[in-house]
Amino acid sequence: MLPAMNLNGTAAIVSGGASGLGEATVRDLAAAGCKVVVADLNEARGSDLAAEVGGVFARTDVSDEQSVASAVAAAEGLGAPLRVAVSCAGIGWASRTVGRDGTPHDLGAYRKVIDVNLIGTFNVMRIAAAAIARTEPADADGQRGVVINTASIAGLEGQTGQIAYSASKGGIIGMTVPAARDLAAIGVRVNTICPGIIDTPIYGAGPGSDEFKAKLIAPIVFPKRMGTAAEFAQLVRSLIENDYMNADVIRFDGGIRFQPK
Ligand SMILES: NC(=O)c1ccc[n+]([C@@H]2O[C@H](COP(=O)([O-])OP(=O)(O)OC[C@H]3O[C@@H](n4cnc5c(N)ncnc54)[C@H](O)[C@@H]3O)[C@@H](O)[C@H]2O)c1
Repeated sequence: MLPAMNLNGTAAIVSGGASGLGEATVRDLAAAGCKVVVADLNEARGSDLAAEVGGVFARTDVSDEQSVASAVAAAEGLGAPLRVAVSCAGIGWASRTVGRDGTPHDLGAYRKVIDVNLIGTFNVMRIAAAAIARTEPADADGQRGVVINTASIAGLEGQTGQIAYSASKGGIIGMTVPAARDLAAIGVRVNTICPGIIDTPIYGAGPGSDEFKAKLIAPIVFPKRMGTAAEFAQLVRSLIENDYMNADVIRFDGGIRFQPK
C-alpha cells in the first residue's frame, strides 16, 4: 500500500537547502517526485542545485518574515500542492557565557544565533503551515502536510561554549509538541531531528578539518564514523512518509552522548 503522504507530484520547501543536510534533503525529495523550493542565503549554490533537480531557488533569509513569505509563495506557485517544509538553515557560534578573560558573552552574537536558528525555524514553520492549510487534504485522515525541523543533540546536552547554539536548538525541540498540537487542526504533522556529527561543509575541508573530525568521531558509539547527509535525508523522508510519526524529537547520532567539552 502506498503511504498516504506520497511525495510524487507535490511541492516542498527546504530552508538551508543550498548546502549540507538541506542539499541532501532537496536531492532526495526531488528524486521522490517533489518540486522543491531551495530557500537559502547562498544564491550561487542554491540556484545551481535548483536547476540541477528541476526545482526553484528563492533567496531567503529565514530570520526575515517577508523573505520567508516570498519563498513560501514561490512554493505555492509551483502548480503542485505544498505538502512539506523542512528547516535546515542554521548557524553556529562558539563562546562561553563568561569568557576566560572575564568578559560576558556578546549579546549581539547570542541574538543572531537565536534569530537565525530558532526564529528562522519558527518563521518557516508558521508561514509554510499556513500555506499547507490552503491545500486539499491528501488522505482520509485529513492530512495535508508535514513539517520537519532540524535541532541538534546540542539542544539536549550542550557543550562548553555552545550556550547560544544550544539555546536556539533547545527552543526548536521545545516547539515540537505545541506546534504539532496547534497544527493538528489543519492536518499537519511536526517532527524534529537532532543530528549528532554529520559530515557537511559546516566542518570545513582540508588537513586541519580532518584532524578536527577525527576528534569528533572518537565518542561516537556505532557506526564509528560521521553520519552522512544522505542518511539524514533518508530519515527526513521516512518521517514524512510514515503517517503516524508526529510530535516527535528524534536523535540521529550513532549513539553519541556529548561530554562537557
Ligand atoms: N552537520 C552537523 O553535524 C549538524 C549537527 C547538528 C545540527 N546540525 C544542524 O543542521 C542544519 C544544517 O547544517 P549543515 O551541517 O548542513 O550546515 P551547512 O552550513 O552546510 O548548511 C547550512 C545552510 O544554511 C544556510 N543559511 C545560513 N543562514 C541562513 C539564513 N539566515 N537564511 C537562510 N539560509 C541560511 C547557509 O547558507 C547554508 O547553505 C543546521 O541547522 C545545523 O545547526 C548540523
